Amino acid sequence: MGQEEWEACREPIFSGWMTQGPQVAAFERRFAELHQVRHALAVSNCTTALHLALAALGVGPGDEVLVPAFTWVATANAALYCGAKPVFVDIDPGSFNIDPDQVVGKITGRTRAIIPVHLFGLCADMDALRSVAGGLRIVEDAACASGARYQNVPAGGLGDIGCFSFHPRKSVTTGEGGMLTTNDDQLAETLNQLRNHGASLSEEQRHKGPKPYILPEFDLLGYNYRMTDLQGAVGRVQIEKLESFIDYRNHWAAFYHDAFSGIEWLRTPSTPAGSRHGWQSYVLFVDEARSPLTRNAIMEYLQDKGIATRPGTHAVHMLRYYRRTFGLQPEDFPNACLADRQSMSIPLHNRMEAEDFHYVAECIRAIA
Ligand SMILES: Cc1ncc(COP(=O)(O)O)c(C=O)c1O
Repeated sequence: MGQEEWEACREPIFSGWMTQGPQVAAFERRFAELHQVRHALAVSNCTTALHLALAALGVGPGDEVLVPAFTWVATANAALYCGAKPVFVDIDPGSFNIDPDQVVGKITGRTRAIIPVHLFGLCADMDALRSVAGGLRIVEDAACASGARYQNVPAGGLGDIGCFSFHPRKSVTTGEGGMLTTNDDQLAETLNQLRNHGASLSEEQRHKGPKPYILPEFDLLGYNYRMTDLQGAVGRVQIEKLESFIDYRNHWAAFYHDAFSGIEWLRTPSTPAGSRHGWQSYVLFVDEARSPLTRNAIMEYLQDKGIATRPGTHAVHMLRYYRRTFGLQPEDFPNACLADRQSMSIPLHNRMEAEDFHYVAECIRAIA
């Protein structure tokens, strides 16, 4: 963020229109255009987007929702918010994304939807998933995937509904924030109402209306998951930077790839032909059977060198709440557990300069 985002906040502050309004609407239009979808609806974050996506598809108590076992906890939580059960599926260790071959065995008469996660900005194998998903509804967890593409189709238009995040760890940010995308007009209308208490009119429409005594109708049990116009104004500026952010990250991801290509205990992320990685994160896999140090020892060593790293994400079935509630064991999803223990995200962002990337690469190469 910089001066332009700062200046963009003037309009909502001085106009006095702070909640979802014209800035959000303009941000949505541009997001939809860039992601080639008919509708984009801004919300307060990606977690609320996931909740609304499942609610709009009618997911409820007794239903099951398939989710990868290696993802941020919010993907699975969204199913629980609807009273449904998240059913975990192991991942493909090569991509860190849901393994389509393992989906088949998890589908039951109760399965309503599947949430493929485009983890770290790499789209899940959507063709393979569609071929095994049958009539299941598909909600893309595209939290990390603004600007990513699968077979040259942007994320967000690859399923029934797409859910994006604008948390500061993502490529474009509004502090907190999220976006729903869909090509289905009816779903868009439902999502629009659900994010605004279930109201049939937006705040803006209501205030512009000719009859001051008319309040909207409330047909649905809705929520207040709106984005503020302050965030919308920042989002409008950020979204224009998305392409250059991704290009920059792509350039330095290629640099990391070359820098680590000779290290046999380190697996670099790869991008299948036809896909465009969104590079929310650059996540390595440390093969501890061959590495001189464990993943954790490497992370500590890098921390001492002033380099921040993190595990890619977590095996959700092993988080205490999920263990207690569902009684799952690590070996139920071995690839997710392996990724939890041995993945390592290294710095890749747009404030880093050439010397920063060279320094990170040098320090990692020195371990070899
Ligand atoms: C894969 C995934 N899904 C969902 C979320 C939740 O996004 P938010 O923080 O915007 O609620 C995140 C956030 O990190 C994520 O990485």
